[in-house]
Amino acid sequence: MYKLEKIGMPEVRNRFVKMIRENGFKRVVEIGIWRGDLSRMLWSLDLDRLVLVDPMFVDYAQYWHDAWKRRSEPGVGKFYVIQMGHPLPKNGQFYTQEELDALWDSIVDDAPDWVEMVRLPSVEAAKLFDDESFDTVFIDGNHFYEDVCADIDAWLPKVRKGGILCGDDYFYEGVRYAVLDKLSHVDTDIFGNRLWSVVI
Ligand SMILES: C[S@@+](CC[C@H](N)C(=O)[O-])C[C@H]1O[C@@H](n2cnc3c(N)ncnc32)[C@H](O)[C@@H]1O
Repeated sequence: MYKLEKIGMPEVRNRFVKMIRENGFKRVVEIGIWRGDLSRMLWSLDLDRLVLVDPMFVDYAQYWHDAWKRRSEPGVGKFYVIQMGHPLPKNGQFYTQEELDALWDSIVDDAPDWVEMVRLPSVEAAKLFDDESFDTVFIDGNHFYEDVCADIDAWLPKVRKGGILCGDDYFYEGVRYAVLDKLSHVDTDIFGNRLWSVVI
């Protein structure tokens, strides 16, 4: 029986970087940056443009939770945080706004000047950019079905023809159904049951 091997975030990040290199992509967006682990890899590449988007806002706590289920359900977020072992200050507790502010500031401090840091929810951020102005967009914000659908709607037009729209965590129902519903007309590549990508 064919068994999909599950991979971790480092492998997803490496694969995305490989995709950028192999395609010679120069204009890149990351939606959802958290501690900036992927962002740091991206700003080390030879890019013309890098846009990093994250609201880093506690009222978006639900955005932090991510979703195991297709629809939002009260309580799943906390489970996710504990399950995934995120290095939160207190076990099972979410970041405070002060901690998120400090996290954002530390990433801004580290980022080279040419990197565009956008502290907004992704759908709001998308309005700032012209259509077809990026080679690739990596969607890794909130993973609830409705939000991934909204992210795909907002960012698909921002990718140029021949570019790649992609994202992490295809094994989440919210992500998987959003990709299936929104992108059924194009071939979807799935790497390690996690990194989904479509050529636009
Ligand atoms: C899974 S983490 C991102 C991990 C990161 N891409 C990496 O590889 O290290 C999810 C991030 O999405 C952010 N987020 C939540 N809702 C968002 C939204 N509407 N737009 C953009 N980012 C969002 C959260 O604040 C959190 O930092």
